Amino acid sequence: MNKDFLKYQAQTSPYPLGMEVSYANGSYIYDTAGNAHLDFVAGVSACTLGHCHPKVVEAIKHQVEKYMHVMVYGEYAQSPATDYTKLLAEQLPAPLEVTYLVNSGTEAIEGALKLARRYTGRSEIIAAKSAYHGNTMGSLSLMDFEERKSVFRPLLPDVYHIKFNNEKDLEKITTKTACVILETIQGGAGFILPENNYLKKVKDRCTAVGALLILDEIQPGFGRTGKLFAFEHFNCVPDILVIGKGMASGLPVGAFTASKEIMHSLSDNPKMGHITTFGGNPVIAASSLATLNVLLNSSLIADTLKKEQLFKELLKHPKIKEVRGKGLMLALIMNSPETANELVLRAKDKNLILFWLLFENRAVRISPPLTISELEIREGCAIILALLNAM
Ligand SMILES: Cc1ncc(COP(=O)(O)O)c(C=O)c1O
Repeated sequence: MNKDFLKYQAQTSPYPLGMEVSYANGSYIYDTAGNAHLDFVAGVSACTLGHCHPKVVEAIKHQVEKYMHVMVYGEYAQSPATDYTKLLAEQLPAPLEVTYLVNSGTEAIEGALKLARRYTGRSEIIAAKSAYHGNTMGSLSLMDFEERKSVFRPLLPDVYHIKFNNEKDLEKITTKTACVILETIQGGAGFILPENNYLKKVKDRCTAVGALLILDEIQPGFGRTGKLFAFEHFNCVPDILVIGKGMASGLPVGAFTASKEIMHSLSDNPKMGHITTFGGNPVIAASSLATLNVLLNSSLIADTLKKEQLFKELLKHPKIKEVRGKGLMLALIMNSPETANELVLRAKDKNLILFWLLFENRAVRISPPLTISELEIREGCAIILALLNAM
């Protein structure tokens, strides 16, 4: 299979990990040779409830037998999407109430940027250095790594960057600014948390100059940090919330939520300010609804903080300089990029799935399913420590 994978499927890099997948269940992915791989990555924070959670599978099967795609987004009332957006609104603080469902995180970012420009009538967008918001042209424009974007220029004009957690830079947010977009916790940069009430200060500055604050919760959202959404830790409600990844526990999805007033501007003058064929797809919405119901009716979200503590207690080693992040969004900051790289590759041979972070080359990602057990955490951490001792 790997030969055909490399030959016929477009590659993202010359060095794919290339596991031949047979099936997956709970915290394990099984390869075609029958090996069970303990998953400390969850498809990069996507498989919130692990692989093939019975409630998610049941909801998908039930929906598939009723109907799949019946109309483009926004025309027909369909119970999975309607019930889901209502339940989501009930969990969110005012004025976040109306959700636009799309197909991926990056499309949700595009939608949020369009919404901010449309609502404010301004064009300037401010993003943070070292942020990652996706890979379509708009999202890519927000990245400040020139080496990754220069070959795709020209990108969106009027995009500027501020340093995350730097209060002095807030002066750059002015009456020209349509929106400031930030990850609530910076992911690719190394799982960096906002400090000193930073998000609240950004929000206050935005409010003072009439700009909108967009928080990208595509990675920390859906319980991963010990709250349903990470912004709940930081005393700050965004004007536009962007979600995705773990929302459907393994199906492709994205969404952005705002107040009724703000969201309304996208459907009027011109109408159809954003349109999508498959957004709100009933099968994916059913999976999102099942995921949210499991999260709300279990102790999984609160348990992430106990699991964080367990990881932090277990993962003590001279080669690990720091365990950064919150809940089950953790990064081991190693003593060198080489150690980080070697650990990910050696873990693969021991059937433990680890991964890198995009921009922090000393980091090793630990973002397991929220359903991971204490025993599985202990098993995986023992493998990491044994590997580090041997390296
Ligand atoms: C913070 C953040 N924003 C946006 C995205 C893009 O999401 P997607 O890959 O679904 O387009 C990602 C994906 O890794 C992400 O982590």
